[in-house]
Amino acid sequence: MEQQQTKKTILSGIKPTGTLTLGSYLGAIKNWVELANDYECYYMLADMHAITVRQDPAELRRRTLEQLAQYIAAGLDPEKNTIFIQSHVPQHAELSWVLSCYAMFGEMTRMTQFKDKSAKNADNINVGLFTYPVLMAADILIYNADLVPVGDDQRQHVEITRDIAQRFNSIYGDVFTLPEAYVPKTGARVMSLQYPENKMSKSEEDTGGCVSILDKPEDIMRRFKRAVTDSGSEIRFDAKEKPGISNLIQILSACTGRAFSEIESDFSGKGYGDFKLAVGEAVVETLRPVREEAEKLLADKTYLETVYRDGAARAQRRAQRLLSKVYKKVGFVAL
Ligand code: TRP
Repeated sequence: MEQQQTKKTILSGIKPTGTLTLGSYLGAIKNWVELANDYECYYMLADMHAITVRQDPAELRRRTLEQLAQYIAAGLDPEKNTIFIQSHVPQHAELSWVLSCYAMFGEMTRMTQFKDKSAKNADNINVGLFTYPVLMAADILIYNADLVPVGDDQRQHVEITRDIAQRFNSIYGDVFTLPEAYVPKTGARVMSLQYPENKMSKSEEDTGGCVSILDKPEDIMRRFKRAVTDSGSEIRFDAKEKPGISNLIQILSACTGRAFSEIESDFSGKGYGDFKLAVGEAVVETLRPVREEAEKLLADKTYLETVYRDGAARAQRRAQRLLSKVYKKVGFVAL
């Protein structure tokens, strides 16, 4: 108990809008597993953020449970981590309202993700899309999270969270911890198999650029066989000149734990074709136990329910402490 309070807090979340990709596994979740030893960890399924873009209700529900199963299958132990569904902890939305009164219209209009998503969803530029960063700030600040493991594309959101927290603190005293984006040292940055200049993304399921945790081995192999390579024939890490091959080297390294230089010498003199097969096979073997375990868990709805109920109860308890403090600070009458 004593020790728990001195541990720093980590919070991260992923929207359950698609299947989890090899990129989110190697780049994020796999690295979250060990953090539980040193930090108090909260992992959230961001279903409330998901509806800023239209979702099919049945699909959102299915994907949320699927993602929960995948988190656990990937090694996140629900006993050691608090895993929960965002909409089960209403304090996030409540804090989000308060914070929205301390977030400026101008700064929200400058958010890159808002500009990108507005361009992509021109027929549905809803207010939720606009205030998305405020809800995310609430997700983070309500646990007084110290560190937020996120990809580069989310750094701006962590920055604005700090700005909002700082603004609030400067008026009311030290209420919020200022969080920092956290990129685990070992995290791989997995790029698309078709457009290796871009990060692997679940929106690329159709083009073959992305592999997901639940894909069948034959589909994984097919995608690696078709992976884009570069001119020349050398298997050498050079992200600028050889983005395709470098991405494959990175993936193989993350799957096998071998250094880039070892991989380069193992494959010196060999062709791209052989190399792509080897990477595909390594990915199949890395994902196989995760997929099998996820399928087993998905079949056990009762177990999944205990996990998310438990997670919600723990998260609510902690979230309520901070929310009450904030309500008091801003002058709401306590009930
Ligand atoms: N915005 C994040 C993404 O799109 C998901 C997210 C929601 C999140 N709330 C969060 C990530 C809080 C970290 C912390 O990937």
